[in-house]
Amino acid sequence: MRESSGTGLILGIESSCDETAAAVVRSGTTALSNVVASQMSLHANYGGVVPELASREHLRNIVPVVREAMSRASAAAGYPVTFADLDAVAVTEGPGLAGALLVGITYAKALTFGLDKPLIAVNHLEGHIHAVLMEASERSEAPMELPILALVVSGGHTHLYLAKQQGNDSTWTYRNVGHTVDDAAGEAYDKVAKLLGLGYPGGPWIDALAPKGNPRAVTFTFSEIKPRIYRDGSAPANKKAPPRSQGPHFDFSFSGIKTAVLRYVETHHLRASIEARRAALSADPSITQKDAAQLCDQQTLDLIASFQHAVVGNLLRQTLAAAESLGACSIVVSGGVAANSELRRRFQAEADRRGLPIAFPSLALSTDNAAMIAAAAWPKLLAHDFASEDLGATPQLRLGQR
Ligand code: KG4
Ligand code: ZN
Repeated sequence: MRESSGTGLILGIESSCDETAAAVVRSGTTALSNVVASQMSLHANYGGVVPELASREHLRNIVPVVREAMSRASAAAGYPVTFADLDAVAVTEGPGLAGALLVGITYAKALTFGLDKPLIAVNHLEGHIHAVLMEASERSEAPMELPILALVVSGGHTHLYLAKQQGNDSTWTYRNVGHTVDDAAGEAYDKVAKLLGLGYPGGPWIDALAPKGNPRAVTFTFSEIKPRIYRDGSAPANKKAPPRSQGPHFDFSFSGIKTAVLRYVETHHLRASIEARRAALSADPSITQKDAAQLCDQQTLDLIASFQHAVVGNLLRQTLAAAESLGACSIVVSGGVAANSELRRRFQAEADRRGLPIAFPSLALSTDNAAMIAAAAWPKLLAHDFASEDLGATPQLRLGQR
């Protein structure tokens, strides 16, 4: 029989990509600690996440990060929180990098085996949605009205889910109602920033520079960002795109706009200024995202502003169309790109106009963290939905039905 301490405390562990994270959350609503060791500066040298380096860093960080999460939880609780006080350990099962996921999973399995505590497997994407729900209940707001339309938009994912709670144990169910057929929105931000000689990850750089440009200077036509559809109405097969189900789908495509930016760079002879900017940034790592405007001519700032305007517009249009068509009663936007200021402003304004409640995570919980994993595990703990001892990493794990 597994030990349950009845404290409501779950230790969450997240290692799906380039952040090693651990957090202690009480009853799915109160984060006592939330520790994230970011590998961003390591991968920045390569302009993207290097899987082997990520695994090695997770191995180095996992023990100190968990220790720090337990110690900060003790400080927040006002008494020493020990492993024995935990009701369960939750870990990200996927999607993500296989080697990176394995570090968190192996550690969590060893810990729960040693402590005789339940292990809970959490889908990373479900975690992003619960980051928002957790913070809403932390602020003692009324629960978000169901069904929720959730846009999870990050470096690896751009998905729309219709989320509901069902059954006696209020289990969460998800229906995938849209996804990117090629690049994720964050991936487009990162690739365009790299192309323009800006830093990594690209989202925060573009976010900081876009307000200095004219968002209407460069027109990215809708055909450049909408998914290609064959004559019979189907989308072209793509290994990143999951099979389609019945019912309306609200898909995205971000590879076209990336190519359009490249074309603009070539036709407007921006190469030399890009190389100069890249050299200046690598010579002086203290240059901040805001300072980078001094390294950009107006044409580049206009291009950046227009790119962001088009991407956010596309995310907004598809999300609102899905919410309307599927009768969603509220909207949640989560994942790294949800940190974007223009995205927040435009989504909030449009949701207000339509009288639809909308919620975003705090900036700290927009990007990868473990509090969201512990929060998503809470309903699973109540439902005794535990992982088996042979839990493995599932790099392509999907969330919900399609
Ligand atoms: O959720 P996350 O930390 O990791 C993944 O699961 O991918 O998201 C990282 C992504 C990166 O592509 C990054 O460029 C993007 O989120 N991002 C942003 C902003 N902050 C992070 N994109 C646009 N604006 C931002 N402020
Ligand atoms: Zn993520």
